[in-house]
Amino acid sequence: MARLNPIFEQLSSYPIVELERRKARLRAAGKRLFDFGTGDPVEPTPAFIRQALVDAVLPSCPYPSVRGRPAVRQAVATYLQRRFGVAVDPDRSVLPTSGSKEAVFHLPQLVIDAAAPDKVVVFPDPGYPVYHRGALFAGAESHAVKLDGDHIFRPWLLPDALLDRTRLIWLNSPHNPSGAITPLADLQRAADLCRARGILLVNDESYADIYQDQRPHSLLETGLDHVLVLHSLSKRSGMTGYRSGFVAGDPTLVPRLAELRSNPGLAPQDFVNAAACAAWSDDDHVADRRAIFLAKKALLCAFFDEVGIEVRGSEATIYLWLAAPAGETDETWAAKLLEAGIVVSPGRIFGVAGGGEGFVRVALVPSLEEIRAAIEAWRTLL
Ligand SMILES: Cc1ncc(COP(=O)(O)O)c(C=O)c1O
Repeated sequence: MARLNPIFEQLSSYPIVELERRKARLRAAGKRLFDFGTGDPVEPTPAFIRQALVDAVLPSCPYPSVRGRPAVRQAVATYLQRRFGVAVDPDRSVLPTSGSKEAVFHLPQLVIDAAAPDKVVVFPDPGYPVYHRGALFAGAESHAVKLDGDHIFRPWLLPDALLDRTRLIWLNSPHNPSGAITPLADLQRAADLCRARGILLVNDESYADIYQDQRPHSLLETGLDHVLVLHSLSKRSGMTGYRSGFVAGDPTLVPRLAELRSNPGLAPQDFVNAAACAAWSDDDHVADRRAIFLAKKALLCAFFDEVGIEVRGSEATIYLWLAAPAGETDETWAAKLLEAGIVVSPGRIFGVAGGGEGFVRVALVPSLEEIRAAIEAWRTLL
């Protein structure tokens, strides 16, 4: 057998894959499942977005370019201006991506020199598992910072010795899995720190438009120097299957990122970019989607309130972050809920350094009707 990259040995199977396996076993046994596990909402993609894709499938589709056609970069720049009041040059500060997951994975390769002593990538824990995985495959040293309390990551509290060795810091506001939003003053403080130290600061803003009362800010509002942001249409516009997002920020870095991405040819298809243009140019469908997620949240929160389950954070995103009741760990609680057909994610699957333990994540994925049935199933356990 060929000798494999040893990183495979360091990583258990991708956490969501494990969850999918357990669900498949139960489904095969005929159990009705209410799936609050994977964050893949069921609401249809708006018709005008689907039509934009169909209209752009031409008789011959040439290779797409890494930078995408000007229209998609302009649609993103216009969105950033409209939503955050930030002006960016669409040609030097914007790149389309095939969703934000691949961008999270590939980004460390922009700054990491595996032979250098300063090769640390820092990220919040619990957090989206790809921050860790992308760092390792880039040859970086990955450093998870355990969050608790309000689940806001404050990099200026990190020790100098660690910051001296750091090249990339990940923020994720709004935060998966807790739903916490980092205030603008804290984004500013993190940006000031990174600018002073020559560290690349990236905010994963994939959930920026899925919020309740408090509209999340963008890291770009602190300026473009030394910073990048990632956005996604997956949850904003119900386009998980399209794989569409963008990276934006520092005009000296984005062209270098385009250069890097031209090696594997990471370029969304032009017809996907056409659908992205339609999606980034419209806010009404996003307001509709927000209303759906809020209705689901209200239904569940009323139940949790009634039965004394503590919901932590959960101001934004499509997730509710629940503290396990006394006597349960996240794993034992998730296993019990699964017996009633309720699939949730044990918090530890989002952790590298113990973050997430003692919590479960509920993704607001099933329909309102299914949620009502799930609440009745949940009651049978109480
Ligand atoms: C924090 C975070 N970043 C990135 C992604 C990836 O999103 P995309 O579907 O755009 O690849 C997700 C997906 O769930 C996420 O939760």
